[in-house]
Amino acid sequence: MAGTCVIGLQWGDEAKGKIVDLLTAEHDLVVRYQGGANAGHTVVVGDEVYKLSLLPSGVLTPGVTCVIAGGVVFNPAKAIEELDELQSRNVEDSDNLRISDRVHVIFPWHFSEDRALDKNTSDGEDIGTTGRGIGPCYRDKVGRSHAIRLGDMYRSTFRDQIEHVTAAKNRLLESMYSTSEFQPLDASAIFEQYSGYAERIKPYVADTTELLLTAAEAGKRILFEGAQGALLDVDHGTYPFVTSSNSSGVGISNGSGVPGQHIDRVIGIVKAYSTRVGGGPFPTELDNDIGQRIRDQGNEYGTVTKRPRRCGWLDAVAIRYTSRLSGVSSICVMLLDVLSGLEELKICTAYELDGKQSARFPSHVDDLRQVKPVYETLPGWQEDITGARQLGDLPANARAYLERIGQLVGVPVEMVSVGPARDQTIPVPHGALTSGLVNSG
Ligand code: GDP
Ligand code: IMO
Ligand code: MG
Repeated sequence: MAGTCVIGLQWGDEAKGKIVDLLTAEHDLVVRYQGGANAGHTVVVGDEVYKLSLLPSGVLTPGVTCVIAGGVVFNPAKAIEELDELQSRNVEDSDNLRISDRVHVIFPWHFSEDRALDKNTSDGEDIGTTGRGIGPCYRDKVGRSHAIRLGDMYRSTFRDQIEHVTAAKNRLLESMYSTSEFQPLDASAIFEQYSGYAERIKPYVADTTELLLTAAEAGKRILFEGAQGALLDVDHGTYPFVTSSNSSGVGISNGSGVPGQHIDRVIGIVKAYSTRVGGGPFPTELDNDIGQRIRDQGNEYGTVTKRPRRCGWLDAVAIRYTSRLSGVSSICVMLLDVLSGLEELKICTAYELDGKQSARFPSHVDDLRQVKPVYETLPGWQEDITGARQLGDLPANARAYLERIGQLVGVPVEMVSVGPARDQTIPVPHGALTSGLVNSG
């Protein structure tokens, strides 16, 4: 068994990209298996900053095979843009990429549908999608009749398929938009454009299900890179304010085609506080000076859409739930440095609903809207911790905060991050963050 998975346990942007980049060297393959170019994973290598939406973050490490597996919704223009950018920045190994012929392809109609449908949740609040066509493409995938997979683009039937789907989508879009806004899509132009994309990415296209199964059976070390966060999981997240894929640990096998028997380690990525982009309930949100301070310190603005991220205290009820849901064996606590300078820190340890306290994460969005967080308060620390490289370099209050997170989530903290750079990472030796040992460094 040789599979490791990195899963965000909140609403995305937990700094998964940094951890995937760090772990890549110990693996033979790195796999994106769900979501699409709604993701924005940042990797900092020396002075260089890379923002990857579609290519696995492992692409920055030479000698590793990067795979975009069948569960991804694939925007070919974005993939080509990222490949071109990496090549222009001399990232040599971007050739070592395999894209599943099973990925569903994002077409221009998906962007138009995304724009129109985002405004249409039944309770009137916008989901606030990234506008990357993700939901409409997954809907077509499940609906089957108007979906086009990458493998279809190399068949003689591709032109007919484009004509058929464009005609149907034009009828749909005409009903969604006002007469002045509606602009019919041109099947011939789309066919030409996408045939060009197909030609450009042809060298990378493969049956990645077969490739990954063979690699797993041969004992190759595979790193699965989750996108979004578990609270955005379409089945188990804060529905309908979610993305359209299984972004918690439950999605690894269905997106990649690799069964659970080959996955032995799931690492949960937790930001030291909470953030959320877009709409939906957020019990520990801080719509005040502290929230703004966290936003400024953490540069909490979306990688993909540049929207300010909503900020709040750490929510241990939510993280314990998503950690269990994802089968997490350890967690990495990220952006701890952002909390330096705060007098005190709060962690939500239970929710109060209808006068009763509970540590259960509600299954209905209305209940999540109603809950009042029950907080535990811990003392903060004033020191700049961005130079800390081992546990003993951290102030005692920072270590106590980490220890409490581990206790509340119920799994050990494996790594702590105190800045975006590769070396701003503190490994936590097994057992070092348990009571009694916390002060020994
Ligand atoms: P992802 O989508 O989960 O990969 O996360 P994003 O890349 O969207 O957002 C994380 C941001 O935090 C990026 O800008 C990272 O460079 C940055 N980052 C990562 N780790 C740390 C850290 O420990 N401290 C600080 N201050 N920034 C970090
Ligand atoms: P990474 O991988 C944070 C959010 C959107 C919106 C909801 C649905 O960088 O952590 P979608 O476009 O997927 O239909 O939008 O999900 N969202 C993310 N939030 N990080 C992400 O990815 C996200 N991907 C989608 O803001 O609320
Ligand atoms: Mg991100």
